[in-house]
Amino acid sequence: MSACCEPQGYEKVFDHRGARRAAARYARSGLTTLPQRTLELYRDGVIHGETLLEIGGGIGDLEIEMLRAGIDRAVCVDMSTGYDAVAARLLAGSGLAGRVERRTGDLVAHPDVAGPADLVVLHSVVCCYPDARALVTAAADRARQYLVLAFPKNTWWMRAAAPLFNVYPRLRGSDWRFRVHPPADVVAAATDAGLREVRSERFVFDHHLVFAR
Ligand SMILES: C[S@@+](CC[C@H](N)C(=O)[O-])C[C@H]1O[C@@H](n2cnc3c(N)ncnc32)[C@H](O)[C@@H]1O
Repeated sequence: MSACCEPQGYEKVFDHRGARRAAARYARSGLTTLPQRTLELYRDGVIHGETLLEIGGGIGDLEIEMLRAGIDRAVCVDMSTGYDAVAARLLAGSGLAGRVERRTGDLVAHPDVAGPADLVVLHSVVCCYPDARALVTAAADRARQYLVLAFPKNTWWMRAAAPLFNVYPRLRGSDWRFRVHPPADVVAAATDAGLREVRSERFVFDHHLVFAR
């Protein structure tokens, strides 16, 4: 996807209010299920590396926890600037600001926004982007060692729910849509980029997959 047709209006959906809610939840109960699983795999030595690239990292809570767990440096790329203020406050509070870089951009339309990292992760991001293959290919190309992808299962009830999730962005005039991409397409994009699937877990709503180079 070229910059000419990159989706617009993500800021209207992923905004400051959502960021504040996410930060309150993080303060109350820590990471949500899928990033928490990635953190556990890192702590258990199932995945490793010194550098982390998170695409669609939201408030950047995973970066903070991964640095505390042993990652050396992290980059967080997000298309929306709506999370930036909250992310900066959390990072400053953690005392880890010098080790995380935050960048704004669509990884597909603006490939220069991020270089390679040992570990590349996308939690609930593939479902937010129209071209799953392009996004996963761009992420996989940057993964020196591991790629973690967590995305919704392709069940009938998930597909049925998608139009409901999309009422709000339509009303707000945003291009953002919740999408249930076929898992086979997501996996094929990663394996075609030279990675192999080494772990697959199923949660109630999502797949959590690990690929290695
Ligand atoms: C549903 S949020 C998930 C946030 C976080 N990963 C979490 O699990 O809480 C998806 C985020 O991905 C970002 N995003 C979607 N496609 C992207 C792309 N191609 N490049 C960079 N960010 C993207 C959106 O802006 C949004 O902030």
